[in-house]
Amino acid sequence: MTRIETHKDLTRRNTFGMKVSCACFVEYDSLEDLFSLDFGELPQPVFHVGAGSNLLFTGDWPGTLLHSCIKFLRPMGLEEDEVLVEVGAGAVFDSFVEWACSRGLWGAENLSLIPGEVGAAAVQNIGAYGVEAGDIIVRVNCFDREAREMVTFENADCRYGYRTSFFKEEGKGRYIITSVLFRLSRKYNPRLEYGNIRSAFDGRQPMHPDDVRKAVSDIRKAKLPDPAETGSAGSFFKNPVISAEHFARIEEVARAESGPDVRVPHFDTPEGVKVPAAWMIERCGLKGFRLGDAAVYEKQPLVIVNLTGKAAPEDILALERKVIAAVKDKFGVELHPEVEHI
Ligand code: EPU
Repeated sequence: MTRIETHKDLTRRNTFGMKVSCACFVEYDSLEDLFSLDFGELPQPVFHVGAGSNLLFTGDWPGTLLHSCIKFLRPMGLEEDEVLVEVGAGAVFDSFVEWACSRGLWGAENLSLIPGEVGAAAVQNIGAYGVEAGDIIVRVNCFDREAREMVTFENADCRYGYRTSFFKEEGKGRYIITSVLFRLSRKYNPRLEYGNIRSAFDGRQPMHPDDVRKAVSDIRKAKLPDPAETGSAGSFFKNPVISAEHFARIEEVARAESGPDVRVPHFDTPEGVKVPAAWMIERCGLKGFRLGDAAVYEKQPLVIVNLTGKAAPEDILALERKVIAAVKDKFGVELHPEVEHI
C-alpha cells in the first residue's frame, strides 16, 4: 500500500525535533508500490528519508519526502560459519542488531542502539566502536529512479568510507535502497579494539554478542542524549583528518596552554591523522555552551542538542557556525557537519 499525505508536520519525523513540514509525504510498503509511483507527478523536489535521525531540516520542505516501510528480515542460509541476512530498507537498524545478537551471531553488536533505519545505515555507512556498516554489508539492492529497474551493488561498488558511500555522492538521488544483505558470523569474533569497549570488559572476554551489545548500550546511554528526551541527530560533526604537520601545530597549541605533558588524542589513518572533534570543541570551552534553545551537549560535545525542545533550525545553524568558527580560529581546522542539512 502507498499512503500519501499533504502538508505533513515533520516534528516527529526528525529526531532533532524541528517543527517543520513538507508539501507531500509518501510512504510505501513494497517494491510493487515503489514501481507504481509516478515521481514526475509528485511535488518537486523528491527526497528519500529514513527515520530522520541524521537530518537537520533547515526549513519547510517544498516538495515530496519518500519513506520506505519495507521491513522484512530474511535469513538467507548458512555458508560454513557465515549467516547471510537480507533486511528491508525500512526496518529499524537496531532491531536487526538485536535479532543478530540474540541469536549469537557476531558482526553487528558494536553498532547497537544507533538510531535509524537499514537503508539510511547503508547510505551513511554508520559506525561506532571500531565497526562500520560497510564491514558487514555484502550487497545493496536498489530501485534505479532513472532506468526504473532494480540494480544490485556489491560491497566494493558501494565505495564505503568514513560516514560516506557512493549513494551519498555520485549516486545521490538516483538510487533508492530497498534492502541490504548483511554477513554475520557464528564464529567467536568480538571487536574490542576501541578503547571504551576494551575498558568496559577490563581484561575479561565477552562470551556472547549480547555481552558486547550491553556494554555498547551502557556507554551510549551514558554519553549520548536519549532521543526520547532530548532532540539531537547524534554526532553533529565528522572527526577531521589532517596532515601530520598540522597535527604537530595542534600539539604545540595544546602544550602552550597545558604544559609539555599534554596528550592530544588522535588516530593514524591512511589518509592522515584523525583528531576527535569533541576534544577540539571542548578545548574551545564550548562543552555545554548554550545559544538560545540549542546547546553543545555537556557529556559529548560532538553532539548539538535541541535543549528546550523549542529550538528552530536557525538556532541550530547559529550554534553550528559558532562551533566551526571557534575551532577554525584556535586550531586552524575546518569542521564539517556529519548531519545532512536539507
Ligand atoms: N572527547 C573529549 N571530550 C569529550 C568526549 C570525547 O575530548 O567530552 C575525545 C576523547 O579523546 C575521546 C574521543 O574524543 O577519546 C572520542 O570520543 P568518543 O569515543 O565519544 O567518539 P567520537 O569520536 O566523539 C565517534 C562517532 C560516534 C560513535 C563514537 C564511538 C563520528 C562523527 N562519531 O564519536 O558516532 O558513537 O565515535 O565509536 O565519527 C554518530 O555518528 O552519530 C555517533 C554518535
